[in-house]
Amino acid sequence: MADSRFSFEGLIAKNAPEARDAPVVKRGKYDFAVAYPDPASLPIDGLLDGLREAMEQEGADLALYAHQSGYAPLREFVAQKLARDSGIHVSADDIILGDGSGQPIHMICETLLDPGDVVLTEDFVYSGTLGQLRRFHTDIRGIACDQDGMLPDALESAIKNAIGQGKKPKFIYTIPTFQNPQGWTATKGRREAMLRLSHTYGVPILEDDCYVDLRYEGESVPSIYSMDDTGSVMYTGSFSKIIAPGMRLGYMTAPKPILDVARVVKSGGSVNQFAAWAVHRYATGHLDEHIVEINNIQRGKRDAMVAALGENFGSAAEWSEPAGGLFVWLKMQEEADLQAIRDKVLDAVDVGYQSGPLFAPDGVSGKNYARLCFGYNTPEDIREGIARLADAFAREGILNA
Ligand SMILES: Cc1ncc(COP(=O)(O)O)c(C=O)c1O
Repeated sequence: MADSRFSFEGLIAKNAPEARDAPVVKRGKYDFAVAYPDPASLPIDGLLDGLREAMEQEGADLALYAHQSGYAPLREFVAQKLARDSGIHVSADDIILGDGSGQPIHMICETLLDPGDVVLTEDFVYSGTLGQLRRFHTDIRGIACDQDGMLPDALESAIKNAIGQGKKPKFIYTIPTFQNPQGWTATKGRREAMLRLSHTYGVPILEDDCYVDLRYEGESVPSIYSMDDTGSVMYTGSFSKIIAPGMRLGYMTAPKPILDVARVVKSGGSVNQFAAWAVHRYATGHLDEHIVEINNIQRGKRDAMVAALGENFGSAAEWSEPAGGLFVWLKMQEEADLQAIRDKVLDAVDVGYQSGPLFAPDGVSGKNYARLCFGYNTPEDIREGIARLADAFAREGILNA
C-alpha cells in the first residue's frame, strides 16, 4: 500500500537552519556545562509577590495584547538602569524586550544578515550567537584575544582583509565584560580601539553585556555603547543571570533604523506579560540588593573552583580567574581532546562541561579547552566535582598533576 503520510520534502525553506533532533540534555550532578545562576537564591517569593501585585493592579489587561516592544514600565526600568549603571542614555521607546537576550541577538542577526555576510567576533565566543550566525549562513571570522580583549591589530587586519575581498563586515559581535567563555573583561583602551576601528571602517558593533552585573571585584569599565557618539553600537542585556533564565526576559537597544526592523522581525507580539510583570515589580524594589547577594554567593563559588583547580590540576593546566561572570576557561596541554572524552567523563564521574569547539567560529578549534561554569553547584560540590574531573582526566592520560 502506498505511504499515505504527507511529505515535507522539498518544502523546507532554502535558508532554513539545518534540521536537528530535539536535544537530549543529560546533566551531571556536578553541572559545570551551562551558565546557570545559583538555584538556592532565586527570588521565588519576590517574583510571586510581584506577579500577584501586578495581577491585582493590572490583571484585566491580560485581555489585551501588550505593546509590541514589551511592557512599558519594564522598559522604563531598563532605561533607568542602563543610564545609572552603564552610561547608556536611551528612552523606554528605544528598548525592545525579548525572550532573554538570545532573542534580541537573533532579531539583530535577522535584521542585518544576508547569506555569506562577514561577522567578526572573539576567537572563542558564546555558542548561542554562533548558532544564530550559522543559521543566517554567515561567514564568521574569529579575532585573536588576550586577557585585555580583542587584539586591535588582529581586528583591523581582519576588517581590511574582508574589505579587500569585497565583503565589508556587517558587524563586530563582542562580549566585552566577563567574556563567554574566556572570562576576561576588555579594558577601556581596547574598547576605545574597537570603537575607533568601527568608526574608521564603518562597521557597527553588537555589544552583548549579559554578565555585566555579576562583578565580584574591581571597578566596572564603561560600556562601548556609552563611549560612542555616532550611533554605531547595538546593545543587548538580560535578566537571565541576575534573576533567572527561566523567566526568558532580556532586552536590546540600538539606533532607530535597527529597532524599527527588529520589532517587525520579533513578531508574535510582546514578551510574556506574566514574566514582565513579575520581573518589573520585583526588580523595582529588590534587584539591587539581590545582585549584591548573588555576587557574594558567586564570588565564593568562583573562589572554590579556582582553588580546587589549583589543588587538583596544579601546573598541568592553565585557567582564567575571572573577576565576574559565571565560568572559568580551562586550558589543558595542546594534545588533549576534551571534546572526545566529554560524554565519557559525564558518564564516569557525573561532571558536565563544554569543550572548546562549541565556542569556536570554525567549530573545531580549541579541543584542549573546556568551559567550567561555577554558578549552579554549591562550593562543596564544586570542590568535589573538580576533584572528580581531575581524576577522570588523569585516567584518560591527559593530566599528570
Ligand atoms: C554571552 C551571552 N549572551 C547571551 C546569552 C543568552 O541568554 P538569555 O537569552 O537567557 O538572556 C547568554 C546565555 O548564556 C550568554 O552567555
